[in-house]
Amino acid sequence: MRADLPRFGRFQAWREAARQLASNRVAAGDVTWADEDTPAELFGAHPMPPAGPHPVTATKDFLSLAQTVASHSDPERWALLYAALMRLQEDRGFVANPADPLTDRLSRMAKSVRRDIHKMHAFVRFHELPGSGPRRSFGAWFEPEHPILEAATPFFARRFADMDWLIATPEGIARFDGAISYAPPAPRPDFPADASHTLWHIYFANIFNPARIKTDAMRSEMPRKYWKNLPETALIPEMLADAPRRVQAMREAGATDAPAFAARVTARIRQIPDDRPPETLEAARDQAMRCTRCDLCHAATQTVWGEGDAAAPLMIVGEAPGDHEDLQGRPFVGPAGQLLRQTMAAAGLDPAQAWMTNAVKHFKFTPRGKRRIHQNPAAGEIRHCKWWLDLERQMIAPRLTVALGATAAFALTGNRLPLTPRRGGVETTLDGGPVLITWHPSLILRLDPGPAAMAREQFAADLSQAARLAAEAA
Ligand code: URA
Repeated sequence: MRADLPRFGRFQAWREAARQLASNRVAAGDVTWADEDTPAELFGAHPMPPAGPHPVTATKDFLSLAQTVASHSDPERWALLYAALMRLQEDRGFVANPADPLTDRLSRMAKSVRRDIHKMHAFVRFHELPGSGPRRSFGAWFEPEHPILEAATPFFARRFADMDWLIATPEGIARFDGAISYAPPAPRPDFPADASHTLWHIYFANIFNPARIKTDAMRSEMPRKYWKNLPETALIPEMLADAPRRVQAMREAGATDAPAFAARVTARIRQIPDDRPPETLEAARDQAMRCTRCDLCHAATQTVWGEGDAAAPLMIVGEAPGDHEDLQGRPFVGPAGQLLRQTMAAAGLDPAQAWMTNAVKHFKFTPRGKRRIHQNPAAGEIRHCKWWLDLERQMIAPRLTVALGATAAFALTGNRLPLTPRRGGVETTLDGGPVLITWHPSLILRLDPGPAAMAREQFAADLSQAARLAAEAA
């Protein structure tokens, strides 16, 4: 049986054909998935059967995986996806099992597609095109590894909504003039060189630090196969060759002295922290409210200090306040905090009878439009803020601590090893107490439904274990 897939809108067409074939339980080996390159006469063209009697269902996770895999260049992808759909009718869980060979193959394909899309978003270089309309026009040529044109271009429509553009690839052309349309491929257009390319050169030459060359990291970030269409890469060989001379010149020139007023300005900006340890928890809180130990204090609204029962045997340590916590000045009041509080309640732990705090006490974010996007604190920020965490721990002296996520685990144990094998275990804090390691609730909120359900169960089990251990220790 032959199912024809159009050049564009292929995933939707595959989805409809696959549903129809599966409703007749047509075996995967009996279907040829054909595109415009498949010669029509090669296969007997059995017409598609009408919808059959068998119900066909697919999970959201599977459909999202299938949509990504559909942009892979492997000609086998449609057959693999159909085989997976047929299998899903008997075995709902196999897509969530990373050890399954088919799941593994599809996941690796999806990963390669996601990486290619990411690279396309980063490496498309537009040339301004002469035009007479009210909007500026741009064109770009890009050679992705996979047929990702349809999957990758909506990003450019959001980013460059106020200009007309086209992106030509060997697989086809995407054109935007308020809406995207797709057309078959044409020979590579000859775009005029323009001022934006000089800007790329200047930018690249300026961010290039000859003393910090890591060619492997550079090649992994900017793989060679994309170089030929990046204007700035013309500079790379010369800059690499010239780097030793520039480093030598930098060495010989030595460090420049800071101007005389720099120390005064630095002292004023940083308001050199008061290192005298406060004597009470209240005094510690008051001092922390004025903390300028690291730069996070400048953008955050306020310090978010711990709260709860200072005499509690249990301390819960998160990563850092999020957007809601920053605005309200209280820990764990946003979505991740709600999940934590509900799971604690289900485990018999009353948040008011524990001390709830964070490894870092200021919100770290990057602004994106009107939104503030959470960022993980850096190791240096965690170390600076440990001054407060240590104080809190001395004053509260918990008998058991629960570390939520990798940042808290690092701050408490000094160990940066991955969390997965450590989760559910009890380790020893740098100050010598027991600490139970578990997931951060915001991780659970970010996972796909399948893995999230499993992580939730583990989180609930860990908090129940914490309730038992805290009760024993009390
Ligand atoms: N995440 C944290 O780690 N802490 C909070 O207070 C809120 C979210």
